[in-house]
Amino acid sequence: MTACIVGWSHGKFGKLDGETSESLIVKAATEAIAHAGIEPKDVDVIYVGNMNGGFVRQEFHSSLALQAHPDLRFKPSTRVENACATGSAAIHMGLNTLAAGKARFVLVVGVEKMTELNSAQAGEVLIKASYVAEEANIEAGFAGIFGKITSAYFQRYGDKSDALAKIAVKAHKNGVKNPFAHFQKEFAYEFCRNPSDKNPFVAGPLKRTDCSPVTDGAAAVILTDVTTALGMKQVIAFRAAEQVNDFLPMSKRDIIKFEGPALAWKRALTSARLDLLDLSFVESHDCFTSAELIEYEAMGLTAPGEGERAIHEGWVERDGKLPVNVSGGLKAKGHPVGATGVSMHVMSAMQLSGTAPGALQLPKARIGGVFNMGGAAVANYVSILEPLR
Ligand code: COA
Repeated sequence: MTACIVGWSHGKFGKLDGETSESLIVKAATEAIAHAGIEPKDVDVIYVGNMNGGFVRQEFHSSLALQAHPDLRFKPSTRVENACATGSAAIHMGLNTLAAGKARFVLVVGVEKMTELNSAQAGEVLIKASYVAEEANIEAGFAGIFGKITSAYFQRYGDKSDALAKIAVKAHKNGVKNPFAHFQKEFAYEFCRNPSDKNPFVAGPLKRTDCSPVTDGAAAVILTDVTTALGMKQVIAFRAAEQVNDFLPMSKRDIIKFEGPALAWKRALTSARLDLLDLSFVESHDCFTSAELIEYEAMGLTAPGEGERAIHEGWVERDGKLPVNVSGGLKAKGHPVGATGVSMHVMSAMQLSGTAPGALQLPKARIGGVFNMGGAAVANYVSILEPLR
């Protein structure tokens, strides 16, 4: 174990009218510093995870974190971008900085303000995270990419629409317990399963309820080394942190195998000396319900093509043998791209420190896994977290 999360903050996710990426960054940074019980002057290095690409006109975000306090002036701050895995990428930059001995405290803020654009315009931005030379003309933005992946999966293994609908139902049921979630309402199985005016097809077999929404939000963490962390209030250690990048073009890969995510999981579990079922829960990247389905296979919960067993047999429910996305996941909590990876780490830190709000807290949370994915299984990050004491 080389590094720890010692403070965090998580704002409400949703359509946040009146907020800007600047106001979201400032609030998240201020609250995380206070939560860690350190002073702004103690922060040595800052990373701001933000994908942007046209969601907002302001492109240059790094120094906006300095607006949180005058004592942050002159601190090195860098914006990090790695598509939908931007938040984890920023955290990994923080871990590298600590490992290099270049900082004692690192502030990482993840932020995205997406709703200044409508869904179609947001899709135009998000599709930039595909291999534009071959894939960007697909309809329906990034949903089109996952529509294609889902169709290919159905062709090989059969129609899994029942499983996808159940994954959506689970996400929204869990989201009700999460006060930070974009959507805090349950969706009936029949509503998610059957196309309707309120639940139309968006891309291929994917309906609206299979997609994560367009969301604003921010989250932040304070990272430090183990020695410093020992004297602090709440300490969640990284037992493993792995990054695996795959080729960007889908044409160079068997896209429904999710080989990058599988390798990231394998490396992380090996380095943590754990089996998957040693984990108390996983926060996984359900940008679309079919992504979560294939991720069950990539993490090793089921054999390839059998991901549906995990949801049909209840293994991934809140009270199952490996709860997946008790936070509501991207599907219900929302997916403000640059914030998502940081949010997953904060949700896990809350669970592992026993401080998740109200009914969100799991009765037994000892070790947690995080899987955050940029693009179509391209930039893959797995973290394994546990309380230091
Ligand atoms: N799941 C469930 N309900 C959703 C939803 C979602 N993802 N997105 C919107 N809704 C609801 C809204 O709350 C609204 O409900 P109301 O009528 O009760 O107020 C209704 O659907 C219409 O909302 P609207 O925003 O007009 O829907 P839309 O059809 O324009 O957008 C999507 C829906 C799915 C196309 C859009 O959310 C989207 O593009 N998601 C994918 C984002 C993405 O690609 N992220 C990156 C992943 S890697």
